[in-house]
Amino acid sequence: MVKYEHEIGITKGTPVENYVAGNFEGETNEVGIYLAEVFKRLAWEEAEHAARFCEMNGIIKPTLKENIEWMMGGEKMANAEKREASEKAAEAGIETAADFFRESSKDEGRHYKILEGILERYF
Ligand SMILES: [Fe+2]
Ligand SMILES: [Fe+2]
Repeated sequence: MVKYEHEIGITKGTPVENYVAGNFEGETNEVGIYLAEVFKRLAWEEAEHAARFCEMNGIIKPTLKENIEWMMGGEKMANAEKREASEKAAEAGIETAADFFRESSKDEGRHYKILEGILERYF
């Protein structure tokens, strides 16, 4: 047991919760925007800001096992939804979008498998 650590959910249920939620949304959007604009350093800093707001509002779960299980659900959904989007994009004749959705669907599948492996190995 350590004495000092980041507390999760310190702003949840407080008058600050909405500000933190809005900032979390803004910061996460900025990560993608800055990466697209090739500003990797700025994207990384925005990601760090987003992570702190995520902690403050208690978006993440209190245990590693819960976080892994929760994220596995998201990865599984993203895996299926991106493939579906790929098919829609192909039907619409937008080849670049179809290719990217198809490829990133596989990335989401890999994310799922990584988390699944950790879960099986340690829990
Ligand atoms: Fe920021
Ligand atoms: Fe993912």
